[in-house]
Amino acid sequence: MLSPLKIMACLFMLVLGDIFVVPDTAMATYADPMDNRVDSLLSLMTLEEKVGQMTNIGLMAVCKGDFWEGRDTIEIDSAKLRRLLLDHHVGSVQNMGKYPPAPAEWRQLIGAVQQVALQESRLRIPVLYGIDGVHGANYTAGSVLFPQQIATAATWDPAFAETAARVTAYEIRAAGIPWNYSPVLDVCKQPLWGRIFETFGEDTYLTQQMGAAMVRGMQGDDVADPHHVAACLKHFAGYGMAYNGKDRSPVYLPERWLRQYIFPPFQAAIDAGALTVMINSGSVNGIPSHIDYHLITEVLKGEMNFQGFTISDWSDIMNLVEAHQVAADEREAVKLSVLAGLDMCMEPYDESFAVHLVQLVKDGEVPMSRIDDAVRRILKVKFQLGLFENPLPPPSLYPAVGSAASVAESYQAALACLTLLKNEAAVLPLPKKANVLVTGAAANSLNYLNGGWSRTWSGRETAYNDEEKQTIFEAIQAKLGSEQVSFVPGTTYTEEVDIAAAVTAAQAADYLVVCLGEQPATEKPSDIDDLSMPQAQLDLVRALAQTGKPIILVLVEGRPRLIREIEPLANGILLAYVPGQEGGRAIAEVLFGDTNPSGKLPYTYPRYSGSIWAYDHLRSDERDQNFGYDGFNPQYEFGFGLSYTTFAYADLRFLPDTVVTGEEVLEVRVTVTNTGKRAGQEVVQLYTSDLVASISPAVKQLRRFAKIALAPGASQEVRFSLAAKDLAFVNQHNQWVTEPGAFTVTIGPLKKTFVWQP
Ligand code: BGC
Repeated sequence: MLSPLKIMACLFMLVLGDIFVVPDTAMATYADPMDNRVDSLLSLMTLEEKVGQMTNIGLMAVCKGDFWEGRDTIEIDSAKLRRLLLDHHVGSVQNMGKYPPAPAEWRQLIGAVQQVALQESRLRIPVLYGIDGVHGANYTAGSVLFPQQIATAATWDPAFAETAARVTAYEIRAAGIPWNYSPVLDVCKQPLWGRIFETFGEDTYLTQQMGAAMVRGMQGDDVADPHHVAACLKHFAGYGMAYNGKDRSPVYLPERWLRQYIFPPFQAAIDAGALTVMINSGSVNGIPSHIDYHLITEVLKGEMNFQGFTISDWSDIMNLVEAHQVAADEREAVKLSVLAGLDMCMEPYDESFAVHLVQLVKDGEVPMSRIDDAVRRILKVKFQLGLFENPLPPPSLYPAVGSAASVAESYQAALACLTLLKNEAAVLPLPKKANVLVTGAAANSLNYLNGGWSRTWSGRETAYNDEEKQTIFEAIQAKLGSEQVSFVPGTTYTEEVDIAAAVTAAQAADYLVVCLGEQPATEKPSDIDDLSMPQAQLDLVRALAQTGKPIILVLVEGRPRLIREIEPLANGILLAYVPGQEGGRAIAEVLFGDTNPSGKLPYTYPRYSGSIWAYDHLRSDERDQNFGYDGFNPQYEFGFGLSYTTFAYADLRFLPDTVVTGEEVLEVRVTVTNTGKRAGQEVVQLYTSDLVASISPAVKQLRRFAKIALAPGASQEVRFSLAAKDLAFVNQHNQWVTEPGAFTVTIGPLKKTFVWQP
């Protein structure tokens, strides 16, 4: 207990605006001294102050007038701000999405919020401001926009994920913001879902490696360092697996499956130190995740040992009433979610969550112990971030926002993601002396390259584009000279503009670079009913094919839109995903051979909308109409991607050779040779297949990968180690097991089998 004298001493320090330190070593009961600080502060708090810490409101709730009205400006309404921060003790504010303020304007906004919290609130607890900086500090003018996560996954090099997250953290913190709602760790095996571009694709292991790298980059070794921010893993759990492919729609997954495919990336990121987790807005097996005690409390905070705090997704308390129909009213929804383990509620518009929760505690329906647990977790993150000591680090710490070095990092990542899917008769790289028509909806748009969450939430607003950046057309023009390069739009995303004009222009060109793709969108606006590339875009390719000129398709798309019908009409196909601000330059660089492409698919590219399987499907999925096993026939397989050179695989060897016992480690060696005439990079992928198991095993599972660079003619022996736990799966009792028996290792075209025994 604090004596009245000590309370006086604490308050005196607070009034001075000093660092919040409780000088009471007698209180120390925890191994981590930070926990003592948390408890000391908690012991001073009223119920209302505690519940306020659990409340996260939107910037719109503290602004003058209608937030969305007008352009390029918002003004903090000090009466609204004071009411929420002082009367309702709100401890967290979030987001933007309307326009991108410059760092200095951001700091003013955040400063105004912190000033009320730090100088006028009773306990001077700093506000925790959160934002979606999902591919760079995307809501800050002048920041570097990196490739979206799906493109980063296609690099198969976690160093790019780590670098992007490090720069993002720096540039977010430069705006005075210490908390980022990133990374997205949803494994997605449903290509219709409009948020695939925000994920690392369909594989659990690749997502694990990339996600942990992002947490390392974002939080650094010490998250209190003012160049780092707290990560927020989202969306726990299963959000990317909607049954009908629509955003925020139901997911049906056996727990066995959740454990094997969905949880591991979250576990890896938690082990890497991630401080916060956002809950899935949808339902899994009919249970909305926000009220799932088993998921949040037993699994996440229990088994997975997550010590940070959980936050709801946007307005998801009200969604429990309106969309999910599991609560009669908001009060009941608040009760269910907090009892399930939710620590902070993202209610962008008002303080209703706090009002209900205070009453629920007073009425004895939510125990104070649950509130204390939530607030401890939240305060601890605020202490860990150093917010009490340094709520708004000085701008002088951030001289490098938008620096040339960071732009170069984004450019390198964009180059590394580009995935060559077809190169008939080595049509690519194109000669620089050629005349080129650049056409298509994505040909002359920065917005298509950047995708959603770019300067605005939707990413569609052109007014905030960084005009000095190059679209695909502009980059090709810059490379070849304007006389050689023409541009005709041909279509928009879904409508014809001037296909006939494109055909006419094609007559004068040697090559047609046709840039198809998806307009930027995220969340519900990204829902589609048909995975096919929109008809107008297919029509453009068909019309151009009539000219007989070689066609190079460049696909700028968040998800794999079906191209089956036009694929035979194209001589070359380059998949660019959503490569970010430097994507135009990178595409030109690869098309004209200055860089050799090295990206590989992070998902299975489907051929038919009625044939959707991930690479790690079951053998029974492959059965065809003739009762054979040829039913798996995607357009392109997971892990696929060509190069301007060729690679040969040889000498797949094991140590020990054929039998591995207990904890013994199997070393796998393979030699890769660059058999072509150009230097290139290859992603060496190791898959295992369990030949017989008590649960039908996946045909293969990615276990290891390494991206290597080889000069022409050069060889490299690549070594991987596998242990019994790398062969494990979740059995019918929801337990991880490795069952004895034979396993095949596949690397490139080579296969070799060994036996594992306990
Ligand atoms: C999205 C989250 C995002 C949050 C805050 C939600 O609608 O699902 O990914 O972090 O909004 O913007």
